[in-house]
Amino acid sequence: MQQLYDKYSDPVPRYTSYPPATKFTDNFTRIDYISVLKESNNWQPKNISVYVHIPFCRKMCHFCGCNAILLKKKDSICDYIDSIISEIEMTSKHLDSNRKISQIHFGGGTPNAIEAEYLVQIVDKLRDKFDFIENAEIAIECNPAYIDYEYLDILIQAGFNRFSFGIQDFDEKVLEYSNREPSKLPLDELFSYLKASNPNIGVNLDFIYGLPGQTVEGFVETIKQAAELRPERLVTFSYAHVPWVNKSQNYLEKIGLPDPIEKMEMFVKASRELSLSGYKQIGLDHFVLESDELYEAGVNHDLHRNFQGYCTRRTTGQVYAFGVSGISQLEKSYIQNIKTTKEYIESIQAGEFAVIKGYNLSANEIVIREVINYFMCNKRLDFDKIAMNLSISPDDIKTLINFDYDKFTHFTEDGIIRIHDGIIEVTDLGVIFIRNVAAVLDPFFVSSHGKYSRSV
Ligand SMILES: C[S@@+](CC[C@H](N)C(=O)[O-])C[C@H]1O[C@@H](n2cnc3c(N)ncnc32)[C@H](O)[C@@H]1O
Ligand code: SF4
Repeated sequence: MQQLYDKYSDPVPRYTSYPPATKFTDNFTRIDYISVLKESNNWQPKNISVYVHIPFCRKMCHFCGCNAILLKKKDSICDYIDSIISEIEMTSKHLDSNRKISQIHFGGGTPNAIEAEYLVQIVDKLRDKFDFIENAEIAIECNPAYIDYEYLDILIQAGFNRFSFGIQDFDEKVLEYSNREPSKLPLDELFSYLKASNPNIGVNLDFIYGLPGQTVEGFVETIKQAAELRPERLVTFSYAHVPWVNKSQNYLEKIGLPDPIEKMEMFVKASRELSLSGYKQIGLDHFVLESDELYEAGVNHDLHRNFQGYCTRRTTGQVYAFGVSGISQLEKSYIQNIKTTKEYIESIQAGEFAVIKGYNLSANEIVIREVINYFMCNKRLDFDKIAMNLSISPDDIKTLINFDYDKFTHFTEDGIIRIHDGIIEVTDLGVIFIRNVAAVLDPFFVSSHGKYSRSV
């Protein structure tokens, strides 16, 4: 383990998008946005995925790597929600009304930090402006420290059918170091309540490994308890230490972070525990039960992902983001909104899109993105399959990414990948270093410290 860590712990992009968000440029204007919005009607996938960013949190966790702000008494949530509603109206004018919404994702921050009625207003506006596919997914990220049945009832009534709870760890000491509270309701009761309300509701639980106060045994015990609750999806995030983005992470460094080898062991042992409990590993850090639609997509090597997480062909759409700092992920462009709530509201109230940055992908980058996404999702590289998705030849793809099997020899020798019949497959041990392998597939990757988090 130590040798592997020494060799592969360099900072590398997370590859939740390609190119990484660090490449977005600020010479992307509102006019450019309107033009790509219109063009996106001709691009695939036709479906619309919606991301709504609610930045507010009632308390800030020291580890937080999200675009989140503390909710203050003077904050006008009303103005923020009105702005999102206006942004939806402004955007819908440029989108083909025959296109349907397949997925809505409320992320944050903490969407449940504000009253449920605000979220319902947004869903109502989306229903007013667009048709939905049958059983469209309406998902919300929740902090379980302040969720109650009344709140859930309002959301269930409005059609929310996927609830993601940020647990992080069951050990209250670990939560305390991170400035976080445990779930207000017992989780088994919460689960029973959701399933009794609608058996098709999906539940996700999020955990983080690598926090102060965590030990290998303690984290594995947390994961064991979590698996007993049988959520369809369970995510074990590697703590991303980026104190140059979030200064309060320095506080965690002072308390003392687990050493990298311990951190690797937490992941490896927790993954083993989950596989013994009947979970299938999806991509790097997601684990799903057989009843979840991601399971089959994983078996068929047919997974997709966007900034919000994994999806299947059914729910995949180009992503249109609303709210402060939201990133739209269109087939040929990325567009990011302004990062401060005040400026976002001012811009929308003035009738202007709140674009701050963007990026148009070249034809070559679209190919590289498909290779990297396919690899990150399916943990394998099968040029024939990718070529079929892109309608170009496997040899053209290889030329474009400067592919050479020799570049992978050291990964094979270290047991990180295996190659058979020309297909590269990541081993169980290698999953933790998948980002390092992806970086070799990225012809534009340049190693740089202080920009990306470490792979471990
Ligand atoms: C937007 S939060 C989820 C909703 C809610 N705000 C909460 O914390 O419960 C999304 C998830 O990102 C993960 N996360 C936040 N900061 C992280 C970091 N620095 N490294 C790894 N995961 C992180 C946490 O697991 C968290 O549950
Ligand atoms: S982890 Fe969640 S609750 Fe904590 S500060 Fe970040 S967004 Fe807010």
